[in-house]
Amino acid sequence: MARIKVEAGKPYEVIIEKGALTKAAEYIASVTTSKKVAVITDDTVDSLYGDPFVCNLASAGFETVKFTFPHGEASKNTSTFIKIIDFLAENHLTRSDTVIALGGGVVGDISGFAAATYLRGIRYIQVPTTLLSAVDSSVGGKCAVDIPMGKNLLGAFHQPSVVICDYKTLDTLPREIFLDGCGEVLKYGILYSPDLLSHLSEKGTGFDREYVIGSCVQLKADVVKRDEFDTGERAMLNLGHTVAHAIEKLSNMTISHGAAVATGCAVIARASASAGICTKDTSDKICDAVLALGHKLSCEYSAKDLCNAMLSDKKRHGNTVDLIVVEDIGRCKILPISTDDLLAFIEKGLRA
Ligand code: NAD
Ligand code: GLY
Repeated sequence: MARIKVEAGKPYEVIIEKGALTKAAEYIASVTTSKKVAVITDDTVDSLYGDPFVCNLASAGFETVKFTFPHGEASKNTSTFIKIIDFLAENHLTRSDTVIALGGGVVGDISGFAAATYLRGIRYIQVPTTLLSAVDSSVGGKCAVDIPMGKNLLGAFHQPSVVICDYKTLDTLPREIFLDGCGEVLKYGILYSPDLLSHLSEKGTGFDREYVIGSCVQLKADVVKRDEFDTGERAMLNLGHTVAHAIEKLSNMTISHGAAVATGCAVIARASASAGICTKDTSDKICDAVLALGHKLSCEYSAKDLCNAMLSDKKRHGNTVDLIVVEDIGRCKILPISTDDLLAFIEKGLRA
């Protein structure tokens, strides 16, 4: 079991424990005196964990109501958001009551945003059930919904009161969704931790869950402490994401986010080595970890197509794009790169 403190403006703990779901009522009672809670979840997670979770809370004396919506990113929109707000109002939740997000990043993001805005903000708790949400989205307070103009364009910063991560829930994840989370895990190793990256290369997807989730959460907590509102260093968490967004877009979203992030990291590592920003040994170590986690080093798209897609990315400033490049394992930096130089840089990253 690990307990990690996130020292945001409002500090809180992340509890990482196999079987923590069965102790949820105890952990929730330790951060709130309220007796009424609204559990928000999706249909898949509900069918696996909803009933025992609600029973656990009810038997501990919590008056519990539950709202379930269809799983998937397509639900992370203003329509579902309003349904959640209506549900909270119809069930008379007050500012002293608590929202609980039980699920992956979609549930966490939309429930967090509902909690951030309902009655101008009520308490909420994250109970992540995917690898991605365990290592990334449940920590740090970013919450949002998608609008037709783009992903996560309507959101807020609202820190949870506690994060309860029961990594036993990862046992029921379809392999593809587990691998998706590995893309984000990889990013923490490259950005901050040679030890974590070596562990991933050595163990592949059979990595030690408590060690890996704990390491990622600690690394994210450190970043959030230094840059809670994403005005500087937190942007580093987008390593591999500019290339990844281009890959996702060109594939018409048939390539998943985590797979695209892993390939994006490999492309950036090789381009960094070719440009003399890091050694080939560093880039090889990153590529080894990408392969060990079941992802690809390259994609079927040309550098030209990737660059065109990247130039419509929100991280473009005039004639430059901010790319996060690798100097060493554990050391990355933001490199503004001119649109004229981008093509040659990405071309190098696509070469084996
Ligand atoms: P998700 O929430 O859609 O979950 C993926 C799928 O797994 C869903 O179908 C879900 O029903 C299912 N699932 C969840 N837990 C399960 C379990 N234990 N067993 C079986 N199935 C389970 O997707 P995700 O990958 O967790 O999160 C992606 C979202 O996270 C995106 O919307 C992204 O924008 C957001 N995100 C937010 C942040 C942040 O800082 N807030 C960071 C990264 C990503
Ligand atoms: N996942 C990016 C962030 O939390 O800032």
